[in-house]
Amino acid sequence: MKDLSSLKKLSHFPVMVNEVLKVCEIEKGGQYIDCTYGAGGYTNAILSYPNTRVIALDRDPFIKQFVSETEKKYKDRFKFFNIKFSEINKVVDKDSKVDFIIFDLGVSLMQILNLKRGFSFNSHSEVDMRMGNNSISASDVLNKFDIKTLNKIFKIFGDEKDSLRIAKNIVLERKKNPIKTVPQLVSIIKKSKKRDFKKKINLSTKTFQALRIFVNNEISELIEGLIKAAELLKAGGKIVVVSFHSTEDKIVKFFFRNYSKNRSRPSRYYPDFNEEENLFEDYKNKVIKPGKYELNLNNPSRSAKLRFVVRNDKTFFYPKKLKKKFSKYLDLEGENV
Ligand SMILES: C[S@@+](CC[C@H](N)C(=O)[O-])C[C@H]1O[C@@H](n2cnc3c(N)ncnc32)[C@H](O)[C@@H]1O
Repeated sequence: MKDLSSLKKLSHFPVMVNEVLKVCEIEKGGQYIDCTYGAGGYTNAILSYPNTRVIALDRDPFIKQFVSETEKKYKDRFKFFNIKFSEINKVVDKDSKVDFIIFDLGVSLMQILNLKRGFSFNSHSEVDMRMGNNSISASDVLNKFDIKTLNKIFKIFGDEKDSLRIAKNIVLERKKNPIKTVPQLVSIIKKSKKRDFKKKINLSTKTFQALRIFVNNEISELIEGLIKAAELLKAGGKIVVVSFHSTEDKIVKFFFRNYSKNRSRPSRYYPDFNEEENLFEDYKNKVIKPGKYELNLNNPSRSAKLRFVVRNDKTFFYPKKLKKKFSKYLDLEGENV
C-alpha cells in the first residue's frame, strides 16, 4: 500500500480559499452559504471576517467532528446542516437574502484518506464510496447492474475507454463471488486493461471516479444545487463554484453563460428567444486557477477551476434548458435508485 502520510498533512488545505474570498469581497461581510463544508476551511476563513454569517451544509455525517469547534467559536454567526445541497431550500427560505453561495465540489481528501470508506484504490476495505445521505453503495452497483449500464457508467462518468471489457469482467467475476472489496475491483480492472507505461494515472482512477459520481448522483446534485442557488440569491449576489472534473465545469459554464444577459444566441430570429430570459448579469467566462504558491504546496489542486456569476434582479424562473442539455448524465443517474 502507498504511504499516504504526506497527503494527511494536506487534509485541511482548502483549495483556492484566497481567490474565493477575493471574488466575494469578503471585507464587506454578508450572508454566505457554504454548500460543501468539508473540514470547514472556507467557512472558518469567511467567519474570521466580521459582519459575515455562514449557513453550511455537508451531506457527510463523518464531518460533524469538524463542526463543533466552529459552532462554539462563532455561536451567533454559524449554522450547520447535515444535508445534500440539492435540498438547500429545506433549510434556507426564499426571503433569507443570501449574498454568496459557494460550492467546492467533489470528494474531500479526508474522505479519500479514510480507507474504510473505499473511495481510494489503496483501500483494503469494502467498495462503499457513499458520501452520506444515499442508499446504494458502489458494491451494490457492481453486483446488481447489468453489463450495459456498467459500461455506460464507466464510459460516461469516467471516460474509460476499456469500459466494456471492465463491465464484462465484473459480471463474469460476480457469478463466482460477489464483488465486495476494493482489491477485488482493482484486480478486475487490471485484468481488463492493457498496461500503458506512458500513462501517468493509475489504471483504476477512471473507473473509481465513475463509480463515485454515479453512487453519489453527483451530476444531478450539481444541477439541482445550482438551480436552487439561483433561486435563493438576492440581486447582486454571487454563485461561486470550484470544480475539478471537466463535466462539472461544462455544466457550470453552460449555466452561467446561457442564463446571463450577454449569452450568445443562435440567431436574432430564433423563435424561442425571449429577451427577459436571464438570471445573471453579463458573464465574462473567466476561469480562475490556483496560483504558483498554492500549486507548490498542494499539487493536486492543479486541476481546480473557479467560476463565478452575479445574480441579476429578474424574477427567478426554472432553467429547463440546463436539464435538457445534460439529460444524458441525468438519465443515467436516474437508474441509481
Ligand atoms: C472538496 S470538499 C470541501 C472542502 C471545504 N471547502 C474545506 O475548505 O474544507 C467537498 C465536500 O463536499 C461534500 N459534498 C459533496 N457533494 C455534496 C452534496 N451534494 N451536498 C452536500 N455536501 C456535498 C463532501 O462530503 C465533502 O465533504
